Amino acid sequence: MISTAFTETFGVRHPIVQGGMQWVGRAELVAAVANAGALGFITALTQPTPADLANEIARCRDLTDQPFGVNLTILPSITPPPYDEYRQVIVDSGVKIVETAGSNPGPHLPMFHDAGIKVLHKCTTVRHAVKAQDLGVDGISIDGFECAGHPGEDDVAGLVLIPAAAEKISIPMIASGGFADARGLVAALALGADGINMGTRFMCTVESPIHQNIKEAIVAADETQTELIFRPLRNTARVASNTVSREVVDILSRGGQFEDVRELVAGARGRTVYEKGDPDAGIWTVGTSQGLIHDIPTVDDMVQRMVSEAEDIIGARLRSMTERVSV
Ligand SMILES: Cc1cc2nc3c(=O)[nH]c(=O)nc-3n(C[C@H](O)[C@H](O)[C@H](O)COP(=O)(O)O)c2cc1C
Repeated sequence: MISTAFTETFGVRHPIVQGGMQWVGRAELVAAVANAGALGFITALTQPTPADLANEIARCRDLTDQPFGVNLTILPSITPPPYDEYRQVIVDSGVKIVETAGSNPGPHLPMFHDAGIKVLHKCTTVRHAVKAQDLGVDGISIDGFECAGHPGEDDVAGLVLIPAAAEKISIPMIASGGFADARGLVAALALGADGINMGTRFMCTVESPIHQNIKEAIVAADETQTELIFRPLRNTARVASNTVSREVVDILSRGGQFEDVRELVAGARGRTVYEKGDPDAGIWTVGTSQGLIHDIPTVDDMVQRMVSEAEDIIGARLRSMTERVSV
C-alpha cells in the first residue's frame, strides 16, 4: 500500500486517479477504477443533458460500492452547456468528489462545499494552482505539458512543473500528464506529489468504452505521434497525430481562423473515432504517454501492477542504490 495525504483526504486506497475524459469517462470505466481502489471521474459533459448525467451516476452506483467522482470541465464555448444544472445534478446525486478543470473553480466552490463535496482542481500552471488553493479547493491536480487534452500555453513539462508546484502547494497535490506506469508514479512521489492522475493509460484498458482499434492504435503509437492544435488561438489541445489534426495545424499555422477548421474539429467527428474505430475520422485526444503503453490490461490488473511495481522500485531498487552508495 502507498498511503499519502491524497489517499487520506480523498478516501481512496491507491494514489491513482482517472481524470475526466470526454466520450471515455463513462460508468463502466469509472466503476472499474473505483473497484480497483483508485479514483475515477465520470465526465459530466459526455452526457448530453443533466438528466442523462443523473442516470449515468446511478448506473455507476449499480456497478460499484466504492467512492467515485464527477469531472466538470468549464471551457470557453460558443454555446455553453447549462453548467449550473449539471452542478445541481452532481450535488443532488450525493457524489462526494468533483474534479474541476478548464477555468476558475471559485464560482462552484460554495455549492460543492455546502454539500460536503471535496473539490480536486486540475490546472496547468503554478500560479493557477496557488490561486485555486487560496480559493479553498481540497486538492490540486497539476497537469504538465506532456498531457492529453489541454496543456495550457506555458509549455512547462512535469519534471519542473511538479516540484515547482509542490514548493507552493500545501494541500494534497497529484501530478498529471505523461504518467503510464510504476516508474512515473514513483517519480511523481519523489518530485513532491501525493499521487498521479492519468487519462491516456486508462483509455487503453479493457473496460474503457472505446473501439478496440483505437486502443490498438495507442499501443502502436510512440511518444512523438501527437499534435498540438489551436496553438495560434491560445487554446492548445494535444491530440492524436492523424490526417485531420495535421491539416488543422497546417491551416492555423498559415493564418487560418477557427471558422476555417470548424468542420474538421467537430466534436461529433471525434466521437465517431471512438465509436467506429477509424483513427482518421476526426480529432481525438491522446497524450505523449502513449509511447509508454504496450498492452490493453483490465483496469484492476493495471492498477495492481502499478502499485506493486512502485512498491518494488521504492523498497528494492532505490534502496539497493542507496546501500551501494553508502558501502
Ligand atoms: C480522451 C481524453 C479526453 C479528455 N477529456 C477531458 C475532459 O473532458 N476534461 C478534462 O478535465 N480533462 C480531459 N482529459 C485530460 C485527462 O483528464 C488528464 O488530465 C490527461 O489525460 C492526463 O494526461 P495523460 O493522458 O498523459 O495521462 C482528457 C484526456 C483524454 C485522453
